[in-house]
Amino acid sequence: MDKKLIEEMIERAMAQLDYSYAPYSEFRVGAALLAEDGTFYGGCNVENAAYTPTNCAERTAFFKAVSEGKRRFTAICIVGGKGGVLTEYTAPCGVCRQVMMEFCDPETFQIILAVSKEDYKIFTLKEMIPMGFGPDNLA
Ligand code: THU
Repeated sequence: MDKKLIEEMIERAMAQLDYSYAPYSEFRVGAALLAEDGTFYGGCNVENAAYTPTNCAERTAFFKAVSEGKRRFTAICIVGGKGGVLTEYTAPCGVCRQVMMEFCDPETFQIILAVSKEDYKIFTLKEMIPMGFGPDNLA
């Protein structure tokens, strides 16, 4: 991936931290999802007093995009930390990886985990969810 694009995605994911609604865990997460047509969708985690209705930042971004007609994606950037302070890579939970399996090619979809604009790691979806179950299994 182009370094400029990676940096833009990290900035966009970081900007989402301000919107994170995480009064229970205080763990703020921001995501920036890039659709194949070049459109960006931001997402933040949205917690709930009943805990289980909580939505992760990644799924927020995917559901925003899909609800606006996008179904093909290139990459997602994820940042997170307690109080919004970024100290470690925040990897997507299993549920979010499964949602990615629904709309992304595991071989090519890029998952950027960032701590800063200079400190990041990139994985394919396949690396994050080997032998994942997806739409192809039902074809
Ligand atoms: N969370 C995310 O939004 N994405 C992740 O990749 C990991 C976890 C959220 C869910 C919850 O609001 C908080 O982080 C603590 O689990």
